[in-house]
Amino acid sequence: MNKITIIGAGRVGETTAQILAEEELCREIALFDVREGVPEGIALDILQMAPFFEFDCVISGSNDPRILGDSELVIVTAGLPRKPGMSRSDVLEANVRIIDTVTDEIMRYAPNAIVLMVSNPVDALTYRVARRTGWNRSRVLGQAGVLDASRMASFIAQETGFSALDITTMVLGGHGDTMVPVPRYCTINGIPITQFISEERIAAIMERTRQGGAEILALRKNSSAYDAPGAAVATMVDAIVNNRRRLLSCVALLEGEYGETDLAMGVPCVLGEKGMESIVEVDLSARERADFDRSASSVRADIQRLRDIA
Ligand code: 2OP
Repeated sequence: MNKITIIGAGRVGETTAQILAEEELCREIALFDVREGVPEGIALDILQMAPFFEFDCVISGSNDPRILGDSELVIVTAGLPRKPGMSRSDVLEANVRIIDTVTDEIMRYAPNAIVLMVSNPVDALTYRVARRTGWNRSRVLGQAGVLDASRMASFIAQETGFSALDITTMVLGGHGDTMVPVPRYCTINGIPITQFISEERIAAIMERTRQGGAEILALRKNSSAYDAPGAAVATMVDAIVNNRRRLLSCVALLEGEYGETDLAMGVPCVLGEKGMESIVEVDLSARERADFDRSASSVRADIQRLRDIA
């Protein structure tokens, strides 16, 4: 891929840019942010890491949205982060205005790009961008399940002592308190986690996963998580850029899958060069289905609030 633009040079945007550069996932990285000097400063700082990490892509920053020109992929991290005690939905009203402006800039300057949403509440805002652009849903997707699954994998690794490399996890639904970790699809090198972890401890890991972002925010106090979120975004970018056709939980616009329409939330998707290429429907037990439905209702409530704002 030639050019990727990151909108929002906050901590998640900066970390993402740094990983994209280190992994040489494109030839040009642009950072766009409305704060004067900030995107330029971050671009210089990352560029000066080049000799250590041996990358040679171009990195630039600007307050001018024309920097989006020719982007093949646009990653949106702009918006207010939540403060300790707030849910992701609590920043919806503040962030929707920012995201509407950003969407219009993307449509104007990067009309052929794939858009990867990160700003919260990510499910409702991915829906908003999909509807506002009217683009094919393959080109508008969101990051959530990759991060939530990696959090769950890290907790399983701590619990069992096995390498995180061998742990596969699945988290579906909205990226909020109702997200749906699915232990039945979690394995350690193919072996169901139930062989190693008690039901009670699995329940505790599921709850810690749901609260994974809030736990870090409560500890850091003045910052949400950004290291693992940046890595999760880079993992999705790698799947797209290298046309890997990876099966990852992504926020996608549902058009009948899982019995849902007019809704965006986390489901297993195939990610390749066209973006979100298809949605895979997995079999859910009655309990998992009820949790999925509860999560869908919670995302729908956010989408309804968006409509009221519009
Ligand atoms: C998180 O879960 C910020 O939503 C992001 O850490």
